[in-house]
Amino acid sequence: MRGLCVEDCERCPALVESRSRIVNGVGPADADVVFVGEGPGANEDERGEPFVGRSGDVLDAALGDHGLRRSDVRITNCVRCRPPENRDPTSEELANCRPYLESELEAIAPDVVVALGKVPAQHLLGRDVAVTTESGTIETVAFGDARLDVLVCVHPAATLYDRSQESTFEATIEKAATIVGAEGGQSTFGDF
Ligand code: URA
Repeated sequence: MRGLCVEDCERCPALVESRSRIVNGVGPADADVVFVGEGPGANEDERGEPFVGRSGDVLDAALGDHGLRRSDVRITNCVRCRPPENRDPTSEELANCRPYLESELEAIAPDVVVALGKVPAQHLLGRDVAVTTESGTIETVAFGDARLDVLVCVHPAATLYDRSQESTFEATIEKAATIVGAEGGQSTFGDF
């Protein structure tokens, strides 16, 4: 790992096979908020950046609705290589990549870490999480020497296949924005 970026890693044979590249986190190294997704999909694997597909569009719109710009926040994933056929990362793959994520979170030490979806929420909190019912709740977790507040949030993609999740997602992003003192912006959520 160099700074916050992993330049080379071969810990997960299946992911080395399926990835085009390692997808590191993006955004300022002193961001007040870090969003953590599950792992790169096809678009992210192609472009080398987290959340640049449809989920990314949903996330960007919600950030804008609440006075946050993508360029002001850090966005990263539990695993940095695309799992084959978009399957969930295995527990071994999550464990292999965890030191990179821990180092990133410890170095940035944001005011809030937003876990986007079930896999990141369970991985960061170390327990089963019912994301829809627990969305908006905060738990403090140690990452190295940093004790950070982890905010549970539904995954942005969930709003695309279940519209009833939109308000839960928006409310949680609003909570994150309030924690970091961002101002409300123009609502564009209905565009998706
Ligand atoms: N979903 C994720 O969890 N992470 C990404 O980077 C993109 C989609």
